[in-house]
Amino acid sequence: MDIFAHRGASRYFPENTLLAFKEAAKIPIYGVELDVHRTKDGVLVVHHDEKINRTSNGKGFIHEMDFAELRSYDFGSWKGEQFAGQQIPTLHEVLDIFRVTHHMINIELKTDVYSYPGLEEDVLQTVLEHDMAERIIYSSFDHEILERMLEKAIPNEVGLLFSKVLINLSEYGQMAGSSTLHVSLIAAKRNAVKKAIELGNRVRAYTVNRIADYDLLEDLGVDAIFTDEPEKMYRHAYEK
Ligand code: G3P
Ligand code: CA
Repeated sequence: MDIFAHRGASRYFPENTLLAFKEAAKIPIYGVELDVHRTKDGVLVVHHDEKINRTSNGKGFIHEMDFAELRSYDFGSWKGEQFAGQQIPTLHEVLDIFRVTHHMINIELKTDVYSYPGLEEDVLQTVLEHDMAERIIYSSFDHEILERMLEKAIPNEVGLLFSKVLINLSEYGQMAGSSTLHVSLIAAKRNAVKKAIELGNRVRAYTVNRIADYDLLEDLGVDAIFTDEPEKMYRHAYEK
């Protein structure tokens, strides 16, 4: 199975920061996953939540804040004082880290809570500037943004995200020739996913941090996992 570092090497480093991505870049895994939002003044930044409350010393919504203000906050200390001073990274900065590596990059567009009109165009433009289009996988829980993306460009690959257990997943794989189903670990263990795999869909599962789950998903025919502990999973995969 392929391994993606979820929000970078996020178990031991502050998630979605340059530190976490630099750490992931050292591991010869298949790829990394990151989440994208947009500031009030239009800068694409890498962060999971819509608000910065959980992961910084600031408070508030990213879409209501200018980039300069966002950069003034500390996104490392919540994880440990040794990480103090980490700033929120831009999408440009994260892509730069992987310019010289082989990793695939899964950009999750976080439009399922706040809609960020036109986010898909901004992200496509940024990727174009880095000349990395063939290494990018776009994903979202908001399947409409992926559809709009497919109208504007022919992305390398799109991943349809699902958090819940579904009855019938098989039809989703038809959205684009190169689409994959990105499902939660709970959903991955259920029959609908088993059926989707049997029908030829490619499935990736998040967030998989236990070795026993890695082994189970491999037996089920899952294509890849997203993990907060890429080094542990990489060692396990290669010791097998
Ligand atoms: O892309 C897999 C996973 O990251 C989706 O869930 O909440 O961690 O962004 P979340
Ligand atoms: Ca994500």
